[in-house]
Amino acid sequence: MTTNKDIYILGIESSCDDTSAAVFHNDKKLSNIVATQDVHQAYGGVVPELASRAHQQHIVPVIDQALKKAKVCKKDLSAVAFTRGPGLMGSLLVGSSFAKSLSLSLNIPLIEVNHMQAHLLVHFIDEIDSVKPNFPFLGITISGGHTQIVKVKDYFDMEVIGETLDDAIGEAFDKCGKMMKLPYPAGPEIDKLSKLGDPHKFEFAKPQVKGLDFSFSGLKTSVLYFLQKRTKENQNFIEENIEDLCASFQYKVVDILMSKLNKAVKETGINEIAIGGGVSANSGIREALLDKQHRKEWIVHIPKFEYCTDNAAMIGIVGYHKFLNNQFSPLTTASKARYTIKTSL
Ligand code: KG4
Ligand code: ZN
Repeated sequence: MTTNKDIYILGIESSCDDTSAAVFHNDKKLSNIVATQDVHQAYGGVVPELASRAHQQHIVPVIDQALKKAKVCKKDLSAVAFTRGPGLMGSLLVGSSFAKSLSLSLNIPLIEVNHMQAHLLVHFIDEIDSVKPNFPFLGITISGGHTQIVKVKDYFDMEVIGETLDDAIGEAFDKCGKMMKLPYPAGPEIDKLSKLGDPHKFEFAKPQVKGLDFSFSGLKTSVLYFLQKRTKENQNFIEENIEDLCASFQYKVVDILMSKLNKAVKETGINEIAIGGGVSANSGIREALLDKQHRKEWIVHIPKFEYCTDNAAMIGIVGYHKFLNNQFSPLTTASKARYTIKTSL
C-alpha cells in the first residue's frame, strides 16, 4: 500500500468519439476536459477512421488544458492512467500511445483502466454533494455499446450478472431515432421530445428474455414494422406524431430496464444501485430510479451529467485507486477493442 499523501493522477480517455483528460489530487477532481467530435453527425454514427484522426488533433490541447485548469505541472504527476478498452482500436491507440510516451518521458507509472469499470467507479469521486455507494452494490452500465448489470463487490471485484444479447440500450435509442428521422445521436433528442408526448399512445413489443439478460433488437424491429405500416397509410405519420412516438418508445425502454432491475434486486438481495454510461443521462430512467428511492425501496446513485457520457474523470478516479494498490501496467500493455469487466480482473 502506497502511503503518499499527495497523489496526482492524469487520466486519459479516447475509447470512442470523445477525447478527454482529467487531473486528480487523490480522489478529488481538479479538471475534466472533454472535446467531442461533431464530424460524425453527417454520417449518422461514429466513423472509426475519422474518430482516431480527430483524437490525434485533440489530444495535445486537451491534456494541456486539463493540466492548466488543475494548476498542476507535468513534473508533479504521480502516474498516468489511460483507457485500455473496450472501444474502437484506432481511438484507443491514440490515448494509450500518448499515455505510454508520457509515462516513459516523465518516468512515472502507467495505469491501464477498463472503460466499463470506470463508468461505475465514477461514483467514488470525492465531491461536496456526493454520497459514495457501499459495497456490494448493483452497477448498471448503459451506453451506446453496453448494457450490463454488474454485481460490484469491491473496487476491482465485479461480476457481470446480466447483459444484452444483441443491441445495447443506447444503440436502440440511436437506431430507432434514425428511423424516426432524428439526428445522431438520437438518445438525447428522443429524451427531449418524449417530455412533450403521450407515453401510452403507441404500444411496442416488450422482449421476453430469460434471467437478467436483455434484448433490444426485437423492440427495434417492432418500431421498424410499426413505422413502415403507418407511413404507408400516411407519409407524414412520423412528423405528425414524433412526440408521442418518442414518449412511447422511451416508456418501453424504461419499462424493460426497470423490470430487469427489479428482478436483479430480488435475486441478489442488494438494493443499492449505481448507474453509469451515456444513457444514464436519460430523464425517464432517472425519474424511475428516483421514484424507487423516494419510496425507500432502493438506494440510488445517479452520476452528474458531466460523468454520464465518456469522460476522463472516471479514468482518473480508477487510476487513483489502482495507484493505492500498486496496480501498474508495463509499457507493452496492448489496447483491447473487446474487453469485458470479467477479463480485466
Ligand atoms: O457512454 P457513451 O457516451 O458512449 C459509449 O460508450 O457508448 O454513450 C453514448 C450513448 C448514445 O447512444 C446516446 O444516444 C446515449 O448515450 N444518450 C442518451 C441520452 N444521452 C446520451 N440516451 C437516452 N437519453 C439521453 N438523455
Ligand atoms: Zn462509455
